[in-house]
Amino acid sequence: MKKKPNNEHKPEPTIFSIFGAAGDLCWRKLMPALYNLFLDGWLPEEFAILGVGHLHTSKTKYLDHMREGVDQFSRQEKTKNEDWKRFAKHLDFMEAELDQNQAYSDLSDRLDQMEKGWAVKAQRVFYLAMPPGMIEPITKGLASARLNRRREHARIVVEKPFGSDLDSARGLNQLLSQVFDENQIFRIDHFLGKETVQNILAFRLANTMFEPIWNRHYIDHVQINVAEDLGVEHRGHYYDKAGALRDMIQNHLLQILCLVAMEAPITFDGNEVRNKKVDVLHAIRPIPRHQVHDFAVRGQYGAGWLQGEHVRGYREEENVNPDSFTETYAAVKLFVDNWRWQGVPFYLRTGKRLPNRITEVSIQFRPVPHQTFPARALLDRQPNRLIIAIQPEEGILLRFESKLPGPSLHLAPVMMQFFYKEAFQGQPADAYETLLLDIMEGDATLFMREDQAEAAWQVIQPVLDVWDEQRPTSFPNYQAGTWGPEEAEVLIAKGGRTWTMPTILQCQEDVAMCRVHSVRDD
Ligand code: BG6
Repeated sequence: MKKKPNNEHKPEPTIFSIFGAAGDLCWRKLMPALYNLFLDGWLPEEFAILGVGHLHTSKTKYLDHMREGVDQFSRQEKTKNEDWKRFAKHLDFMEAELDQNQAYSDLSDRLDQMEKGWAVKAQRVFYLAMPPGMIEPITKGLASARLNRRREHARIVVEKPFGSDLDSARGLNQLLSQVFDENQIFRIDHFLGKETVQNILAFRLANTMFEPIWNRHYIDHVQINVAEDLGVEHRGHYYDKAGALRDMIQNHLLQILCLVAMEAPITFDGNEVRNKKVDVLHAIRPIPRHQVHDFAVRGQYGAGWLQGEHVRGYREEENVNPDSFTETYAAVKLFVDNWRWQGVPFYLRTGKRLPNRITEVSIQFRPVPHQTFPARALLDRQPNRLIIAIQPEEGILLRFESKLPGPSLHLAPVMMQFFYKEAFQGQPADAYETLLLDIMEGDATLFMREDQAEAAWQVIQPVLDVWDEQRPTSFPNYQAGTWGPEEAEVLIAKGGRTWTMPTILQCQEDVAMCRVHSVRDD
């Protein structure tokens, strides 16, 4: 989160038009984030939020519903009457048929009116919190009312998924670029707003000690694990068409990979940073179609037990086809073909209904080149590992070998750890808070550029193609509450490695094991 608001750093007067104002994203994420920004003093005096769409309700009911969302999902305590009243003054909505041009000229009039008393012209943010199918009519509608025209002041925000494959992403980019300049377009990947994800670059590039060993000479492999214990909840309609590869790997996991693998940009300028990320995506070795099964594994959960509760299988979920072949789990092995990373595998894995919600990056180092200690001292040896814990724990852990106290020579792993909650006070901002503020400030560093989005699709397109052509025969192939299908173990075992999930727990076990030894030896 940016450090402290003061008047100089507040964004200019802004009107947010949120398309999909009655939807889940607005309710769970956008409104709580805007409320928190307001409460923490980040918003300018002159700002307004206009919900646009099919609301079929009264303003009072709409506001009550929004407040309920804020109370439920905000990182801060429940809204106080006085605070909410102050915030709600900035909130309004308008009914609109989004496939009709009239809606956009009405919107234009409404925006003119709203900013009338303001000293300067407002920035206008058009936030599309809607299914991808609505991008086209809304973009065209905005153009019909010339709402794209104030190049410096009009911004469009597009949520993921950005298309459903490379071709559709290109089509969307073409469409958007006919109406908006690239610097007006903000393609959101909310993972990039997470504190711990942003910290990957700070950790790598603001410290001298890791960068010299951040390469193929010292690193054995990298794992990016994003495990979720939730199923698809009420998102069956969307998810059954998307699947884990499109929903998570194409965007969130590949973006994390870019942050781990990219070269240092000269400055922290938005385009500089994004150039370096695109370089990584372009360097990823294309997966040959005939070898997809050596590089990618998919899975779908069946019924099972999770945290003591019986949960249904994916095919029984609401709005999911009972014969669905959609994957709820995906693992891929990638290589980044450049000097720094030649030969180092990057394993990416994500799945729903896994035992825990844990996101972490694990960098495993190579063994020492020569072993000085006798074999009996090394019985508990573990490779050096750096873990970037993204959620729910937020921090960095370093596992290394140490001599156990006692007269005999015995080595075992220990951990050094940094946790945000211990090191810094206060709650870290939600990813959407950071991203919404960046949009208002026109800072696109944490957003996907046109070429970045396409390059990410390009990486997974061969897998998508082959998976679309060849139906899986074994679905469901993992039980809810387990770590995924056996094929994924095979994928990584072929390289002589294993998945490290969940490293935090594993490391704690390792350290506990040291204690056992130390007691035994004494
Ligand atoms: C979204 C995906 O982009 O990210 C969801 O569509 C997923 O399927 C979610 O659950 C995970 O985000 P977070 O921030 O809850 O880890």
